[in-house]
Amino acid sequence: MDSNLRIAVLISGTGRSLQNFITLKTAGTLPVDIVQVIANTPTAKGIQFALQADIPIAVIEPQQFSGISDFSQAIFDCCRKSGCNYVILAGFLKLLEIPPDFQNRVLNIHPSLIPSFCGKGYYGHHVHEAVLEYGAKLTGCTVHFVDNEYDHGPVFLQKSVPVLEDDTPESLAARVFEAECCAYPESIAILATGRVTVVGRKVRIE
Ligand code: GRF
Repeated sequence: MDSNLRIAVLISGTGRSLQNFITLKTAGTLPVDIVQVIANTPTAKGIQFALQADIPIAVIEPQQFSGISDFSQAIFDCCRKSGCNYVILAGFLKLLEIPPDFQNRVLNIHPSLIPSFCGKGYYGHHVHEAVLEYGAKLTGCTVHFVDNEYDHGPVFLQKSVPVLEDDTPESLAARVFEAECCAYPESIAILATGRVTVVGRKVRIE
């Protein structure tokens, strides 16, 4: 078992999952070293969690590049230099092109049960508003490997939560995020065991 999975965490905003990882790592319950944090904007509030935890931070802004390819190249060059084994998207809102050496090495968490309520435009409160408007009785979160499309790569782990009659987008988002706080560390801990294989769209945990 690789007890020290080296991860780079990518953020765009509040970075609550990054905060969760740091808390769990400090408590000794998440077998990772967070070797790099990358934000796509200097205004990402989550940068403060990295600063407090002494984690190297890079800000790589898409507008400094000619397109997705160049932007992605800069992101993954930074990841390579950090020596990370896995890249963990934690509220990272930009589309990336995954280079061959990072295939099935980039994870994301989405706040719905993929393939429902996902894809371009489905982020933050938009997801929960759509779930409520549709009248779904069940939603949740999905951890998945990242490919070159929004919320599309092989599903790693899902946790469901009920939708209650008096839910607002905020109350539903809070319930889903609670599930995320378990699902994401659980997935990373499973990865650290080295028992994961991906064949096509199927993720196998031996
Ligand atoms: C979560 O809802 C997660 O599902 C999605 O981004 C949100 C966390 O980002 N990928 P943040 O902590 O609010 O920046």
